[in-house]
Amino acid sequence: MDKHNEYKCVFCNNKIVLFVSFGNQPIANGFLTADGFSKEYFFELSVGFCPECFLVQLLEQPTPEMMFNESYAFFSGTSNSMIQHFQNFSDDIATAYLTHKPNSFVVEIGSNDGIMLQNFKTQGFKHLGIEPSLNVANVARGRGINVLNKFFNSSTAKEVKLEHGKADAILAANVLCHISDIRSVFEGFRELLHDGGVIAFEDPYLGDVIQKNSYDQIYDEHMFLFSVNSVSKLAESFGFEVIGAEHQMTHGGSMRYYLGIKGQHKVSDNVLRIMKAEKELGITEVGGFLKFSQNCENSKRQLLDLLIKLKNEGKKVVGYAATSKSTTVLNYCNIGPDLISYICDTTPIKQGKFSPGVHIPIVPYEQFSKDRPDFAVLFAWNHKDEIFKKEQQFMDRGGKWIFFVPEVHVG
Ligand code: TYD
Repeated sequence: MDKHNEYKCVFCNNKIVLFVSFGNQPIANGFLTADGFSKEYFFELSVGFCPECFLVQLLEQPTPEMMFNESYAFFSGTSNSMIQHFQNFSDDIATAYLTHKPNSFVVEIGSNDGIMLQNFKTQGFKHLGIEPSLNVANVARGRGINVLNKFFNSSTAKEVKLEHGKADAILAANVLCHISDIRSVFEGFRELLHDGGVIAFEDPYLGDVIQKNSYDQIYDEHMFLFSVNSVSKLAESFGFEVIGAEHQMTHGGSMRYYLGIKGQHKVSDNVLRIMKAEKELGITEVGGFLKFSQNCENSKRQLLDLLIKLKNEGKKVVGYAATSKSTTVLNYCNIGPDLISYICDTTPIKQGKFSPGVHIPIVPYEQFSKDRPDFAVLFAWNHKDEIFKKEQQFMDRGGKWIFFVPEVHVG
């Protein structure tokens, strides 16, 4: 029997339908040195849809400890646009929900390097970050942020409630989609959220992934691709409701969901409007996902054809930004150092290492301007504006960017 037939939804336990597989993949942020090549971990990256609760989810995920540990390589504050985004996120929450309650307690799940909580700290709110990866947690502590170095679940929520009381706002950015025990997260919300309080979280949006064919958003950490319809189902079964939904430009298209205890807040008109649009897009039934798999295969062939052609012409092609997302593309398409000589990146912890799975060297981004490559694959396509401004020289002397979202093209 095909093992894919046996997978059950991690939320509602119904049978899920597989719609795309990207083959064996390593840990997306598992940048490694050469002595780690022989013991590198791989798992099958396949995605399914639950027709009952509409949750799009990975069929298998490595353990949380394998992904989020003391050498976690993702730092939230690595781009100016994200720093600005987190400033706006905190301002939105403070203005809409906390102004009349100056003693409010704000909790952030997955607070990373503290980039968002520092805005609440500056405004004098009581705050706590809950962050399992010790290295990023320590960066936040260095900024004066209070951090509990743990995974968030119902027992952590109980512990926080006992020590600090209930929270007026519980926030998370690019975190809830990581946590396969999503039921425990919602139990934690029930424990920790104050009456009248708000939960606000944002994650890469399923609607964007399907519409832009941004399959690179699918990797080990992204256990779920949420939609307003699926989040509504989750919320309802724990006594919450989605009271607002706002589309965001971050991470190539995200959705911010606002949740409150059912009946305690006015529900924004946006919620029903987006839910209806999702039905029209087809992402509330399995038929809506069938073309996606074909689009991924086409994209893979086109990217490989282009890189092989450029190699045959003797062009120098490098990668720009060793994103988590790039791991899926590189391993799915089997692109190694023969086609992309190196990837430049600004994150010190990644430099001098190799990319997961296909082992392309990661170099400091200064090498990019010194080397004068002919082409650069833009793996951080979501930061295009910021990077184009920085790399004007590359373009001025005829350097070209390669994109694979929404389709493979040279720009
Ligand atoms: P992001 O899209 O947030 O990555 P992910 O797919 O992991 O969510 O991009 C962050 C990565 O991109 C990080 O490794 C730093 C790198 N980066 C650069 O190297 N240069 C840049 O100018 C920017 C904006 C990012």
